[in-house]
Amino acid sequence: MPDRIRLDGRVAVVTGAAGVIGSATIRLLAERGARIVAVDRRQADLHAAVKELPASAEALAVASDVTEEDGVRDYVRAAVDKFGAIDVFYNNAGVEGEIKAIQDYPLEAFRKVLDVNVVGVFLGMKYVLPVMLKQNRGSIINTASIAGLFGSPHIAVYSASKHAVIGLTKSAAWECTGTGVRINCVCPGLIDSRMLSAIFQARAGGNAPPPMDKMVERIPARRLGQASEVASIVAFLASDEASYVSGSAYTVDGGRTAA
Ligand SMILES: NC(=O)c1ccc[n+]([C@@H]2O[C@H](COP(=O)([O-])OP(=O)(O)OC[C@H]3O[C@@H](n4cnc5c(N)ncnc54)[C@H](O)[C@@H]3O)[C@@H](O)[C@H]2O)c1
Repeated sequence: MPDRIRLDGRVAVVTGAAGVIGSATIRLLAERGARIVAVDRRQADLHAAVKELPASAEALAVASDVTEEDGVRDYVRAAVDKFGAIDVFYNNAGVEGEIKAIQDYPLEAFRKVLDVNVVGVFLGMKYVLPVMLKQNRGSIINTASIAGLFGSPHIAVYSASKHAVIGLTKSAAWECTGTGVRINCVCPGLIDSRMLSAIFQARAGGNAPPPMDKMVERIPARRLGQASEVASIVAFLASDEASYVSGSAYTVDGGRTAA
C-alpha cells in the first residue's frame, strides 16, 4: 500500500486553476498521478500554472468563464473529449468581491460575487454530474470557506455565497444517493494568499494589513494555512480513501472554527 494517496489515471477537472489554491491543487493532483483539466478565465496565468506541472503530467488548459453556461459546457466537453471521463471535479473558482459594509455595497458588485461563487458552482455541478452519473462514480469537491460557517464583517456577500455553496453541496449529496457519486466541500480558513491580503488590506482602509500575530491570534495553529494544505484535503476527498465521505464540509483552518 503506498504511503501517499494515489490518483493514478484519474481525470481531475479543476476550476480557478490559475489561482493560489487552484494551482497548488493541480500540482498536487498531478504529482499523485491524476490527469488534469485546468480551467480559469485568466488565460495567460492558466497556461503558466499548467507549465509548472511535473513534466510527466498529462494536462489540458481550458480558458472558460464559470458564470457562462456555454463556457461550462465547453470545459466539460473538452475534458470528456480529451480523456473520456471525469473522475474528480474541484469546483473552486471564486472571488472575494468588494470589502464593504452592506449599506455601502453596490448591487452590481453583490450580484457579481453571487454569479461566480454560487452560479458558477451550480453550473459546474449541473454539467459534470451527468458525466459522473453515467459512469456511476465520481467525486465533486466544491470550495466553500469558513466564511460559510459564520458571519464576517464587510464580506457579507462573500459569506452568504459560501453559506450557499455548503447548502448546494449537502443537497447535491442527497440527490446523488445510491449513485456512486460523492459530493463534499472544503472550508479553508485564513490561507496565505492574494485573496486574504486583499480582504485584510481593505478592512484596514487600504493601509498595510495587521501584523501576523494579530491575524493569527484566534487560530489555535498560530499561523496562516498554506494552499498546499487545502490541496491535501482535496486529494483525500477525491480518492477512494474517502469512500464513505459525502455531504460534508471539511474545515482546513488550523482550528479557527473550534476557537
Ligand atoms: N485564500 C483564502 O484564504 C481562502 C479562504 C477560504 C476560501 N477560499 C476560496 O478558495 C477558492 C480559491 O481562492 P484563492 O485564494 O486561490 O483565490 P485566487 O483569486 O488566487 O484564485 C481564484 C481563481 O478563480 C478564477 N476565477 C474567478 N472568477 C472566475 C470566473 N468567472 N471564471 C473562471 N475563473 C474564475 C480567478 O481567475 C483565479 O485564478 C475561492 O473559491 C475562494 O473563495 C479562499
